Amino acid sequence: MESNLICIEDYERIAKKRISPYYWGFYSGGAVGEHTIKENCDAYKRWRFRPKLLRNVSKVDCSTTVLNLRIPFPICVGPTANHAFAYQEGEVATAKAAASLGTGMTLSLFSNRSMEEVAMEAPDGIRWCHIQVIPDRAVMGDVITRAEENGFRGFIVTIDQPVFGKRCNKTDDGETYDFIFDLEQKNISTSIKKWKPNAQMEDIVATCYSYLDGTETWENIDWLKQRTNLPIVVKGILTEEMALEAIEHKVDGILVSNHGGRQLDGTFATIDSLPEVVKAVNGRCDVYFDGGIRKGTDIAKALALVAKAVFIGRPILWGLACDGEAGVKKVLEILKDELVTTMQLLGVTSIKELQSTPNLVVHESRVFAKL
Ligand code: FNR
Repeated sequence: MESNLICIEDYERIAKKRISPYYWGFYSGGAVGEHTIKENCDAYKRWRFRPKLLRNVSKVDCSTTVLNLRIPFPICVGPTANHAFAYQEGEVATAKAAASLGTGMTLSLFSNRSMEEVAMEAPDGIRWCHIQVIPDRAVMGDVITRAEENGFRGFIVTIDQPVFGKRCNKTDDGETYDFIFDLEQKNISTSIKKWKPNAQMEDIVATCYSYLDGTETWENIDWLKQRTNLPIVVKGILTEEMALEAIEHKVDGILVSNHGGRQLDGTFATIDSLPEVVKAVNGRCDVYFDGGIRKGTDIAKALALVAKAVFIGRPILWGLACDGEAGVKKVLEILKDELVTTMQLLGVTSIKELQSTPNLVVHESRVFAKL
């Protein structure tokens, strides 16, 4: 692997050359006008730092907890489908990389490798299970049981995909980069095949599509809470109103996310939505964050706006495409190193200090309004 990959943009550039255009389209695309996907990245620029200097910042501790588990730095792997598009070992390579650094990985329900494989190949890793509470309760129950039996430490439940978002980006042949199942969906198919042992790839695909039928409600979350003792994080909340509903339904955490701009186009960037959610939650459950993170400064801004930890989407796939397990590890290390440096330049030495120091990060409109 080239040794001069020093920032996440380098990984994106090289990954694009290594992944087939079709798979690249699937990874990088967003919903319809792709306004939100762009906005997620751009919005960080409008949040500005106000450093407090002349503090001893020679030692930085950026450890935190996620669902009560201590991790050495507040950067985790979010759920993304189809890692084998980037690298044959797929989610197993990702899990090994996260485990080697002591951080957590979320395995997508739509992964090419199963929970059992991830648990076996990265036994010491912290792993969370991504689900959507699908209407087929037999399959859903089996997914939950498998997660519990395979040492997953909580459920990250996606709620912003009641149906598939529309994607307009397409190949030169006019094919859209929709949800695609070129490779085996080994995770969910392990459960589906218990009821449909002869199901072929097309049946699995049709079954998965049929699950996202728009019927999902808070009752599903209540059902899940009855069904498991593992903690539950709802992923896809962007507003005060939804955050308050989540608190009523006694979730353990909220993941502020707009699905990386792949679902509803036209939402606010996640970094702009975070303060509203944090304020509404007011410490009553954990608040996590994802969307458009490409630099340690992005992470520092999200943490200063009081996210407890962040989850990374596309850059993990770029790391995988560039260099498999080693590439994912490097991507996480780059982000961590950039975060530590940012904290030093801001004058803070712990995540707690980053989160509790007033006005370390402010929206530029506040400052410009005073000029
Ligand atoms: C995703 N995301 C996603 N989310 C989810 O809840 N379940 C899933 O299966 C997937 N699959 C998926 C595939 C691909 C290719 C991408 C890029 C994203 C969304 C993901 O968890 C996360 O919210 C975003 O990726 C965060 O934005 P960034 O970091 O990619 O900008």
